[in-house]
Amino acid sequence: MLRLVGPTHGVAISPPVLLAPMQGITDRIFRDLVAPLGGVGAAVSEFVRITVAPTSRKVVRRELGPPIGIPVGLQLMTPDENHLAASVANAAAAGAAWIDLNFGCPAPVVFSKCAGSALLAHPERIARIVATAVGATGLPVTAKMRAGISSPAHLRELVCAAAEAGAAAVTLHARLRITSYDEPATWAWLAEAKSALTHCARPVPLIGNGGVECAADVARMRAATGVDAVMIGRAALADPFIFRAAAGGAPPTIAEAVGWALRYLDELGGGGPKAKQLVRYWRCAGMLDEATRSALLRGPADAIRPWFAAQASGRETVNTVSPPPTVQTTVPSR
Ligand SMILES: Cc1cc2nc3c(=O)[nH]c(=O)nc-3n(C[C@H](O)[C@H](O)[C@H](O)COP(=O)(O)O)c2cc1C
Repeated sequence: MLRLVGPTHGVAISPPVLLAPMQGITDRIFRDLVAPLGGVGAAVSEFVRITVAPTSRKVVRRELGPPIGIPVGLQLMTPDENHLAASVANAAAAGAAWIDLNFGCPAPVVFSKCAGSALLAHPERIARIVATAVGATGLPVTAKMRAGISSPAHLRELVCAAAEAGAAAVTLHARLRITSYDEPATWAWLAEAKSALTHCARPVPLIGNGGVECAADVARMRAATGVDAVMIGRAALADPFIFRAAAGGAPPTIAEAVGWALRYLDELGGGGPKAKQLVRYWRCAGMLDEATRSALLRGPADAIRPWFAAQASGRETVNTVSPPPTVQTTVPSR
């Protein structure tokens, strides 16, 4: 279990495996469907940018949605302390389990405004932002960052800046700002950050992130680096059952995988860009070969739900972990 300790409130994350924030993927629909599968200790919202006014409670409520049975942290992104205290207070009042601060987003539009990963060049600004957020709430505040912009030379300084400013934990995405998502994550940086956070003036836990591709990678990352918890990003869309498997549960059957995909597509309204995104990532239960993936990506998005439904047109009754409200169907036996 990972415990985030705030000035007056704590958050227990059990098991210590988190769903990563991913803009355009881990929205409330996705979180809602993944949490009941088991093994998800907590999730973080997509980032919410603070711009010319404090983030309102309404925006936070819309981002979080109704409770889903696991703690959900609200991620804020800001270049400075302007409107931060009020945004944090609003997020706390609107039901965030904790506040996460984004120091990792590499997008040019964010970088040019000196937010997200641009702050990795300014550990003193990271410290001021964290301290301001911590001073505005009794909830835990966490900081999520990459290992640097173009080099990990300041990694120790960066993670310690966040910890010593009052962060309850640091999440390290073990890539640089310039590293593409196709390149491997460097887990050695997690071990280095863990050592730094253990020996800094205010030791706090480290959440490791980057490059988890299968359930076994969760234990592998913990053993190789000593991180206190693991955060899973893209592999959660590739296989939403990865959390359950990492917790020792069974890998998904084709029936479960199909049932989940159909529920997700139904929530999306059937097609659209997120249906294509699902196909791009999907690796669940070995049901989608590369030729079929390419064909589905070339075809219309509206053809994707029927393809998944056709995988369910066989003989085996779907045995979903939590029965879907609308889909009770059959799949070919394996
Ligand atoms: C499409 C996409 C959107 C993302 N959006 C966010 C975000 O809103 N906030 C954030 O801190 N990180 C974001 N990330 C980074 C992930 O949280 C995570 O750090 C990264 O995907 C590495 O983990 P992985 O290798 O397990 O995917 C995003 C990543 C992707 C691929």
